[in-house]
Amino acid sequence: MTELERKQDRAPVPSEWTYAPAPESREIVQLQDRYGHFVGGEWLEPKQTYPTISPASEEVLAEVGQATTEEVDLAVKAARAAYENGWAKLPGSERAKYLFRIARILQERSREFAVLESLNGGKPIKESRDVDLPLAAAHFFYYAGWADKLEYAFPNRTPKPVGVAGQIIPWNFPLLMLSWKIAPALACGNTVVLKPAETTPLTALLFCDVLRQAELPPGVVNIVTGDGSTGAALVKHPGVDKIAFTGSTEVGKAIQRELAGTGKKLTLELGGKAANVIFDDAALDQAVEGIVNGIYFNQGHVCCAGSRLLVQESIYETVIEKLKRRLTTLRVGDPLDKNTDVGAINSKLQLDKITELVEAGKEEGAEIYQPPCRLPEKGYWFVPTVFTNVAQSYRIAQEEIFGPVLSVLTFRTPEEAVEKANNTPYGLSAGVWTEKGSRILWMAQQLRAGVVWANTYNRFDPTSPFGGYKESGYGREGGKHGLEPYLKFDSGSNGG
Ligand code: NAI
Ligand code: MG
Repeated sequence: MTELERKQDRAPVPSEWTYAPAPESREIVQLQDRYGHFVGGEWLEPKQTYPTISPASEEVLAEVGQATTEEVDLAVKAARAAYENGWAKLPGSERAKYLFRIARILQERSREFAVLESLNGGKPIKESRDVDLPLAAAHFFYYAGWADKLEYAFPNRTPKPVGVAGQIIPWNFPLLMLSWKIAPALACGNTVVLKPAETTPLTALLFCDVLRQAELPPGVVNIVTGDGSTGAALVKHPGVDKIAFTGSTEVGKAIQRELAGTGKKLTLELGGKAANVIFDDAALDQAVEGIVNGIYFNQGHVCCAGSRLLVQESIYETVIEKLKRRLTTLRVGDPLDKNTDVGAINSKLQLDKITELVEAGKEEGAEIYQPPCRLPEKGYWFVPTVFTNVAQSYRIAQEEIFGPVLSVLTFRTPEEAVEKANNTPYGLSAGVWTEKGSRILWMAQQLRAGVVWANTYNRFDPTSPFGGYKESGYGREGGKHGLEPYLKFDSGSNGG
């Protein structure tokens, strides 16, 4: 008998091959009962507060501030003072040191941040641990590298900081969006007032402790929490020189109207309804993984999610069969469980929106598939969903659902795929799956999308610019392009 066979003889045979729970410990996170606003390097006692919860359990985690216009004003003044008292004039190599420190501290404290991100936002720990945190640190490392090289990035244009940047971020990637905003702003010599989304303020508040550890001069980064009214106060504030916004197209348009004629710089990263296009020569099992990653990653709360699947007709049956089989293996539940694939929906409001659109899909005549799945009793959850028989005119093919819901359409020729893919008011991202390199290049030229992934999906890298066409917004974040919105130039264009 071989070694292996002998062992098998003695090993017990489990009656059922299910996962045992593998929860990540919450112990590492020390929450305060109450948080204020971080202004001028100090905690400002908030005038009003509201509770922030865990969407997986509805448990209250802490009370956080709801910043008023006056509190926003204090934050902007602190940012202005820090800007004028030296931050803007500091040599780039000195600013870079702070950014490098922040990046290193984020790496050191990554488990703590990952647990808190999952707790407050509902995303699976494997994603906050393996995606959000490494990318957030990478963003600070990357822009630290640019801080002393701005003259080389923009030769003969004398790049200068813009001033005070007002930054408003959403709840789907709270710490990562904070990094996308703060890292380039600081690298370019600006100071910042940032407002996290109302449902996910906690990692931004913990980040203030990172700033303290890094000994960043007071006032360079200020954080005010609150809802849309706080965001609106920041947008309106005359002391802000630039607004960077990521969120809904509706609010993006309102901000654009508000800022028209004020001379404030603006970048908008808004919604999407991306097509993920599968050709009949694609590696199908890989493509199915790409489809799953494209729409069920982060519960589909992803602006660049591959929410419209376009499958070539000849492989339609096979792809759908493989996809349905794969869906039965997704584990929905506790975000802190390391086995969880799909976590909690971020808020009751978002769950209601998803539910409404899914009902609309059924009424309009699409065919729904949901794998058998037991959801936790408390909290906000939605079963991963696939709609087939979807017409282009249906709401589920047109509107951003921002949840784990995929709409499947078919096509026969590459031209038809392009036409359908571009038939949307958005233009943030797209995916192409094919063995043919020439077809990838042709598709990338035809698709009106800021990012086109080939034989992969939802891949992010700080060196690569990200941003939209049409109603998905304008301006780019990431890469050298991501510096421009935070700079003004002596000659030529002011960079938009
Ligand atoms: P939202 O656009 O209202 O919220 C995003 C951020 O903007 C939050 O920090 C919010 O407090 C702030 N905000 C809200 N109203 C504002 C105003 N008038 N002025 C300034 N700031 C304001 O998005 P919401 O309501 O959370 O989600 C609605 C839909 O928007 C989602 O279902 C999804 O379709 C889309 N969305 C897209 C995101 C993206 O990454 N592109 C992120 C979040 C939502
Ligand atoms: Mg809103």
